[in-house]
Order: sequence, then C-alpha cells, then structure tokens
Amino acid sequence: MSMNFEDCGVVRDGFPRPFPNTPSNVLEQFRMDSKVVVVTGASDGIGLAVAEAIAEAGGNVVFWYNSNDVAIQRSQEIATKHNVKTSAYKVDVSVSTQVQETIAQVVKEFGKLDVFIANAGMAISKPILEQTLEEYRKQMSVNVDGIVHCSKYAGEVFQRQGFGNLIITSSMSGHIVNVPTDQPVYNATKAYVTHFGKSLAREWREFARVNVVSPGFFDTKMGASPSAINEAYRMAALGRQGHTKEIKGLYLYLASDASTYMTGSDVLIDGGYVLP
Ligand SMILES: NC(=O)c1ccc[n+]([C@@H]2O[C@H](COP(=O)([O-])OP(=O)(O)OC[C@H]3O[C@@H](n4cnc5c(N)ncnc54)[C@H](OP(=O)(O)O)[C@@H]3O)[C@@H](O)[C@H]2O)c1
Repeated sequence: MSMNFEDCGVVRDGFPRPFPNTPSNVLEQFRMDSKVVVVTGASDGIGLAVAEAIAEAGGNVVFWYNSNDVAIQRSQEIATKHNVKTSAYKVDVSVSTQVQETIAQVVKEFGKLDVFIANAGMAISKPILEQTLEEYRKQMSVNVDGIVHCSKYAGEVFQRQGFGNLIITSSMSGHIVNVPTDQPVYNATKAYVTHFGKSLAREWREFARVNVVSPGFFDTKMGASPSAINEAYRMAALGRQGHTKEIKGLYLYLASDASTYMTGSDVLIDGGYVLP
C-alpha cells in the first residue's frame, strides 16, 4: 500500500542528502583532471572518440581492446598529446576471469577507478531462423555477459572505494526493432543491458551512478551496413549517420561532475531515428 500524508511526514535520518561539493562553473564541472577512466572497445569507433574526449578534458584513460592492438599506439599518442596518463590492456570481456584480473591490475597501476565505460559490443545481424545457436551465444557472451562481467567487477571496486560511475553503451536497438535488417538477438542483448543498467542505478545508489547511452547509427564499423544505409538516412530525422565526434560530449557529460544528479538514465542519441 502506498504512503499517506501522515507516513510521508516522518523524517528519515540523513535526508535530504547534501549537495555535492562540485564547481558551479559548468566548464570546470566537465574537467576530468586526476580521474581514472576505463573505456572498453577503445581501439576505434565510439570507444576511441570517448577515450579522446576524456583525455581532452584532462582525464587518465585506460584503453581496453580485444583484437585490434592499434589501441596501444593510440593510447600512447593520446597521452603525449594531452599530457595525461594512459595504458592499454588486452581483455576479452566475455571471459570473466580476464575482466576481474584486469580491473585489479588497473586499480594497482592507477590507484583507483573513477569511471568505467562498458562500450564493447558486436553484432551478427541475421534473422533468428537463419542464425546458428553458436552465433546467438557469441552475441550474448559479448553484449550481455561482457557488460555483466565489467559491471560486477567494477562495481566491487566502486563499493570498496565508496564512489564510482558506470556508463553502458547500449543502442537504440534496445528501444526499437530495426528495419530492414532483422537482428532479434542483437536487439534483445541491448534491451537487456539497458534495463540492467537502470537496475544497477538503484542497487548501487549509496556509492555509484549508472547511466546508459543508446546510440542510433554512427559511422563506424558497426554503423549501418551498405544494404541498410539508405533506410538509415531516411529514418533519421537528420538524414544521416552520426559522426563519432558528435557523441563525445554526451559521454564526457555522464563521466564528469556536470551530471552528478543523473543516475538510472538511458539517453538516446540517434539523429531523431526513433521519433516516427
Ligand atoms: N555504430 C553504431 O551505429 C552503433 C549503434 C548503436 C550502438 N552501438 C554500440 O556502440 C558500441 C561500440 O561500437 P562501434 O560502433 O564503436 O563499433 P566498433 O568500432 O566495431 O567497436 C566495437 C568494439 O567492441 C570491441 N569488442 C568486440 N568484441 C569484444 C570482446 N569479446 N571483448 C572485448 N572487446 C570486444 C571491439 O574490440 P577489438 O576491435 O579490439 O576487437 C571494438 O573495439 C558497441 O557496443 C555497439 O553495439 C553502435
């Protein structure tokens, strides 16, 4: 039964909580100096743009990559260019032990973990009737298990520290059924991680914020395929895919003290694709 006015009049110890001790100047709120941020899938695409954004704001970035070891070179270039500390680790997020061990190594190397950006993902875009169970399991292992592994082990650090910030890259495909490409498994993996992230925002309310980013089509390896690209242009109100530079500000906002009152949100950034 819901509360009545008499019940609501009872003051709870410790409430309201204090406002955060953050700058009032908005550009200062966006500064990431001395913060330690892990980005998974950081070699290229959205993850690389996000890693750049963090470094441009003064933050230290830990690049996680799976197969594309250009991440090592890019992390060094970004460290030099922006005078921040970076590092690169090879981690398959679908293997829980690799995730657990690498998070421990990051904390040992950097002394703490402020933000974990669980961005790695993959798709085998096929109808379920044409998809093998191995292909189904592969997508689940990266897009679902991978996010769960990263969240669980980053969350343990956040709880121990008493602070932390998790950002999950989901997709507009967790909101809508894509056309013309039938890809029910990919869509469902993204719906899972969106709701998982919201649920963690409540579970971790005493020590960490959790938010979800749901991109529409961005011009990366995982962007619209040649056979679907014209439909992607037609569906997006802005008539094009996004450039990765156009997503940097959103991740920086969520990673920084500019968003201290934001948790449990799922932010669509899709050029108006899901409007109709
Ligand atoms: N581009 C879009 O239109 C779009 C739209 C909605 C959502 N997204 C999401 O955005 C995220 C980033 O994708 P992107 O567009 O930037 O494409 P991308 O450049 O292909 O990035 C995907 C990244 O995931 C990493 N990855 C794949 N399997 C992995 C594994 N088992 N362990 C660790 N890392 C793994 C890849 O690492 P390696 O290259 O090192 O193997 C790669 O860096 C994904 O979660 C994707 O679902 C993209």
